[in-house]
Amino acid sequence: MAAGGASWSVGDLDDASGRACLEAALDAGVQVVDTAGAYTRADSAHHNEELVADVLARRYGTASLGDAADPSHGGRPVVVTKVGHHRTGAASWDVDARPEVLHRDVRGSLRALRAEALDVCLLHWPDPAVPLEESVGALADAQREGLVRAVGVSNATAEQLDALLGAPGADGAAVAVLQTRLSALEAAPAPGTQALLALCERAGVQVMGYAPFGGPGRLWRALAARGGDAGAAEPSPLAELARAWGCSAHQLLLAWLLQAHPRLTAVVGSTRPASAREAAAAGAPDHPLAHLTAGQHRDLSAAVAELHARTATTQGSAPSDSSEDHR
Ligand SMILES: NC(=O)c1ccc[n+]([C@@H]2O[C@H](COP(=O)([O-])OP(=O)(O)OC[C@H]3O[C@@H](n4cnc5c(N)ncnc54)[C@H](OP(=O)(O)O)[C@@H]3O)[C@@H](O)[C@H]2O)c1
Repeated sequence: MAAGGASWSVGDLDDASGRACLEAALDAGVQVVDTAGAYTRADSAHHNEELVADVLARRYGTASLGDAADPSHGGRPVVVTKVGHHRTGAASWDVDARPEVLHRDVRGSLRALRAEALDVCLLHWPDPAVPLEESVGALADAQREGLVRAVGVSNATAEQLDALLGAPGADGAAVAVLQTRLSALEAAPAPGTQALLALCERAGVQVMGYAPFGGPGRLWRALAARGGDAGAAEPSPLAELARAWGCSAHQLLLAWLLQAHPRLTAVVGSTRPASAREAAAAGAPDHPLAHLTAGQHRDLSAAVAELHARTATTQGSAPSDSSEDHR
């Protein structure tokens, strides 16, 4: 599992709470942190990367951030950041993935993360105005310069990734990681996402699935539509099962997603340390939810299927709250 940092910087959460969420996730064993240059306050740049660097420097020492030569990262988690997407105002973001902009962004992220090299650097969004291989080529250049250890793309389609991996001269071999939306609130990934996941499997590209709960508040709303966790007359089967198994509905949903996609790194957001801690625990390979019996798995699948049916009729299966589109 990865701790996703967007909510610590994009909304009005105070820094102490954002830091506490990251600390809680790390305490619970999270080994990947997801950030981006675009996760920032409306009036500043790189807020989230700076917050992540502060927490990691305090826990693991400043030297662990900077050392470009240490593949073990000095014991600290891997930091995934993203470039080519910029916050331009209170509710506005813009995509600009021209090579010169990405070179500038990489250097900005290096400064904010106090690193000599970025562990993983993703193109945040393909830029319709720039050929994808040019944008990724700029990141491959940064990798050759030693400024980036691993390169990837976020929000690319299967067609785009396929073309990128196959394009001669595009340095497709440099693409090691793909980040895409993968919400457990939907019964199955959309057909385009299925193709994307299959392509990543074939090509050995690591997949990070973001917004596993469909974005802030969506699981609560889905549960509330069925009686929910709020103690209403008709609790949802997922909430009932959570009570019976002594865990939370969020943990069950995450376990269901990770069983469907065993090699997935789920990127989970939080504004409360308790959420971060719980999600991290449920995503750990030694958690009981990672070792369900066939019967338990059937019960979980049935409860999640009921939630999907409910979600589809109450909210539609379309992905997101508009606020998520910026991340
Ligand atoms: N590449 C991209 O374009 C892109 C786009 C979107 C997101 N992302 C990444 O994905 C991350 C997650 O996305 P997201 O925050 O939009 O969606 P999300 O992870 O589906 O939802 C986050 C919400 O889930 C709640 N939650 C998590 N664990 C919980 C638990 N155990 N119990 C109760 N509630 C729990 C949190 O509640 P509380 O707020 O109450 O803690 C939080 O508001 C972002 O931070 C970012 O790193 C990337």
